[in-house]
Amino acid sequence: MILQTVASSEMGILENKDRARLFYKYLSTVYDQVNPFFWTEEMRTDALDLLDVDETDRVLDVGCGTGFGTTGLLERTEAVHGLDQSVHQMEKAWEKFGKYDPVRFYQGDAENLPFADGAFDHVWSSGSIEYWPHPERALAELKRVTKPGGRVLVVGPNYPKNSLKARVADAIMLFYGEDEADRMFADAGFAEWDHHIMGPPRNTDVAITTIARVPASSDPTATASQRIAETD
Ligand SMILES: C[S@@+](CC[C@H](N)C(=O)[O-])C[C@H]1O[C@@H](n2cnc3c(N)ncnc32)[C@H](O)[C@@H]1O
Repeated sequence: MILQTVASSEMGILENKDRARLFYKYLSTVYDQVNPFFWTEEMRTDALDLLDVDETDRVLDVGCGTGFGTTGLLERTEAVHGLDQSVHQMEKAWEKFGKYDPVRFYQGDAENLPFADGAFDHVWSSGSIEYWPHPERALAELKRVTKPGGRVLVVGPNYPKNSLKARVADAIMLFYGEDEADRMFADAGFAEWDHHIMGPPRNTDVAITTIARVPASSDPTATASQRIAETD
């Protein structure tokens, strides 16, 4: 009954910042044990190869959580910054890396990033978009803080093919396929991107990874982000 009620609304129950924060207060205690069933080191390596980071690049990890993506990024560059809205998740990351060095952490919101335009060479976000109430707004933020010519990589949950699974998925959080990803990245002001479907060996299509390129010169799509802000 609860699922039916939730399924009939437009957003999943966890596409809400307060609920997601509460959810991660508890999930943080077991996150690192559960995570490898859905999001493996092999998948992370494939995604890191797509982002193609140089060792001097400054990279932001949005929704860094306990630091699984962060660990992979640190293998490619020393200048990694992590942001998450859940202090409980970041406490687990701090146990691994410390609070200030080698990673600089920030508590904050993907939809309102506390960084200047073009502050990072590239931006990474794995497994966080599904909780953002306004994913286009957050994607526009990821684009804004990336330097011209940089790349933004987002890993999210692929839309299930099975209709029952899809109904349950919709009730919980954002699951999306390539068409929906095209719409979100276009609305966020990106002009160029590719999707890559990935997953662990027994579930090879559970994740959709998008690598989007920020135009090198002046941005002809800036009005798209402005449009999002204006129509909300
Ligand atoms: C599934 S975990 C992913 C953690 C990590 N990126 C990884 O690859 O394992 C999702 C993370 O997104 C964070 N998150 C959800 N909504 C957010 C928001 N609006 N702003 C920042 N972080 C958010 C959660 O607190 C959680 O730590």
